[in-house]
Amino acid sequence: MGFFRNNNNGLTDFSAIATDLHCHVLPGMDDGAATMSESLKMLTEMARLGFTKIIATPHVVSTLYPNTREQILGQVSHLQEVIEERLKAQGSGQNEGDKAQGAGLKEGDKAQGARIKIEGSGEYHMDDELLGLVHSGEVIPFGKLNYLLVELPWSKPWFSYEEVLREIQAAGYVPIIAHPERYAWLMGNMKLYQKLIDMGMLFQLNLNSLNGLYGFQARMAAHQLIDAEMISFTGSDAHYMGHVNELSKVLQNKHFAKLVHSGRLLNSEL
Ligand SMILES: [Fe+2]
Repeated sequence: MGFFRNNNNGLTDFSAIATDLHCHVLPGMDDGAATMSESLKMLTEMARLGFTKIIATPHVVSTLYPNTREQILGQVSHLQEVIEERLKAQGSGQNEGDKAQGAGLKEGDKAQGARIKIEGSGEYHMDDELLGLVHSGEVIPFGKLNYLLVELPWSKPWFSYEEVLREIQAAGYVPIIAHPERYAWLMGNMKLYQKLIDMGMLFQLNLNSLNGLYGFQARMAAHQLIDAEMISFTGSDAHYMGHVNELSKVLQNKHFAKLVHSGRLLNSEL
């Protein structure tokens, strides 16, 4: 699947990426999907785009979104149950049209969201509480190497963010820095990027940064990071359907093709 040639890049879907490890698809947990219906729509479209697994990463920010391990995993189970119910309803129909109706979906939707596996984790914001969560085992790692998606402070940190990252590593986790191209204080600073890479950090690029969704500078920083072969993962960072609908444009993007064909991406190993 995936590498059929019908555009300049030879990429028609995201099956080469397979797993999205940054997605705000869990309903009602943060500023992502507001309802179950929206979550299902996002998952259906992401399945159509070729994703086979989503690691749901609601914001974990002590002051704004103090989502607990229990709440996140509970909502993942709830979403999985709803999808299962829809699959069963779909299977009990008489023909294709009935099946789609039985699942409460329009003809054509066919509950494709159900074909996506869902796991839970978080987008862990680097704030005062983060190390406490790490040391109490409250965080939810993913992958064989105990990855944690870490969001750096949005303004230049007054504390040693490098020390915090080292402490996360010492606790047995591998930090993946969420969207390094998006922090104004870090974007385009190749020295700081290199320092983080040398420390053993892995970088996750937002796919929509290549579309300019987060501005020109983030787009340029994304190009620099790809050209410097610093990106190990990509993610949608999708908060709602608008973000999901933008993703297909990335398939035409030359830097995306360069990244996929570099063989450096680790998404499909998750
Ligand atoms: Fe995010």
